[in-house]
Amino acid sequence: VNASERLERLFAERTGIDLGRGLKGAHLHQLVAARTAQLGLASVDAYVDALAKPGAQELARLIDAATVGLTWLFRDPDQLATVGLLFRDLLVRRPLDIWVAACSSGEDAYSVAMLAESAGREVNVLATDINSSFLGQAAEGLYSAWTCRSVPPEHLTRLLPRPDGRFQVRESVRNRVQFRRHNLMDAPPLPASGRGWDLVLCRNVLIYFYAQTAADTVDRLARALAPSGFLVLGANEMLKFGSGLLAVEPIGARHALRRLDTPRPAPPAPRPAPVAAAEPDVQELLTRANQRHTVGQLAEALKLYAQVLAIDPLCAEARMFLGIAHYKTGDALSASVALRAALFLEQDLWPAAFYLALSYEQLGNPNQAILEYRRVVQSAAHALPGRGEMVSQLEAWKPEVVQLARERSARARVAR
Ligand SMILES: C[S@@+](CC[C@H](N)C(=O)[O-])C[C@H]1O[C@@H](n2cnc3c(N)ncnc32)[C@H](O)[C@@H]1O
Repeated sequence: VNASERLERLFAERTGIDLGRGLKGAHLHQLVAARTAQLGLASVDAYVDALAKPGAQELARLIDAATVGLTWLFRDPDQLATVGLLFRDLLVRRPLDIWVAACSSGEDAYSVAMLAESAGREVNVLATDINSSFLGQAAEGLYSAWTCRSVPPEHLTRLLPRPDGRFQVRESVRNRVQFRRHNLMDAPPLPASGRGWDLVLCRNVLIYFYAQTAADTVDRLARALAPSGFLVLGANEMLKFGSGLLAVEPIGARHALRRLDTPRPAPPAPRPAPVAAAEPDVQELLTRANQRHTVGQLAEALKLYAQVLAIDPLCAEARMFLGIAHYKTGDALSASVALRAALFLEQDLWPAAFYLALSYEQLGNPNQAILEYRRVVQSAAHALPGRGEMVSQLEAWKPEVVQLARERSARARVAR
């Protein structure tokens, strides 16, 4: 094993980063050669030996040089809109504990804190990164006009212009955020409540990791979530790096990963049943089921879908939503049965094909999954039957789903 391979291995072991993927790999090798000479070491091998010593300061220096910190405020507005919906509808605790992992120079953390402030939500945000020099910039909260270019008009008052042309994040927002060094390879931090995080945002870092390390990291993040907590990864990372502990949930135009097996807040008291009620209308039952489904009351939703199907066994829509709800509870097998039935009844239900593909992947059947991803791409032009929030969320989510389905079936073609 030559010195450069040893360096790459050591780096991967300590940070998860695959130097081959980062833009900075070549630059790093130059830096290593320069540091070897500066420190008067005989060879790069000797430098790698020094790096590998426990607690070596040199390793922190190299990590600071090798990590890519590109980011800006409100980098992904659709995703932040999803976070806004979580604040409004699904995260009920007060105050909310939020962990922004791999925050670089702090922009993600401040974007979320601005959103919380405008939604009137009290939040404690812990923002972490492995790179100490990024964290120094983060704590200052001073940004160039370029970094602020995507901030929506309604949040501009949260930035104070300075004579040097930069902008300072207002104190009311800065007070909501704390910065700390943390390596994602280590055990996750915990909020003071000791209960786990209500929301973890970790964007655009897994893409630099080796695949297995990324999967292990998602698992650690999932375990750090509170009951009914959500994990939000970068748009392209969400479905690449799943975990058996998480369910994909469309929320707004994007999706979030909800921790499975988590008790939900008690449903609102049911309206009194009308006296001598007639057999409930199928559409009305389905609407009620979907309402439960959208707020994550999956057990209730499953019961209501079963009632719909008892009255109308050929309702493809109910079979599809039943399958999606099964998938979200972690029951990929029941999901696949219901979704296959839905597609048998109506072959162009692209969300059914998408969740069926996800279920097949969980069941260890990648070839069947690919066929379903293809079906998603082919049938995406078809409008979904029915109305309601569930359907409009899925429609809004469609471009992202189709893109992912396309990537996955293309990747499979290359692999063959
Ligand atoms: C491209 S930035 C992402 C910034 C921001 N989250 C965004 O999406 O715009 C990637 C960040 O991941 C950090 N990082 C890389 N490896 C890490 C690790 N093992 N633990 C914690 N942070 C890490 C880097 O220092 C860098 O700040």
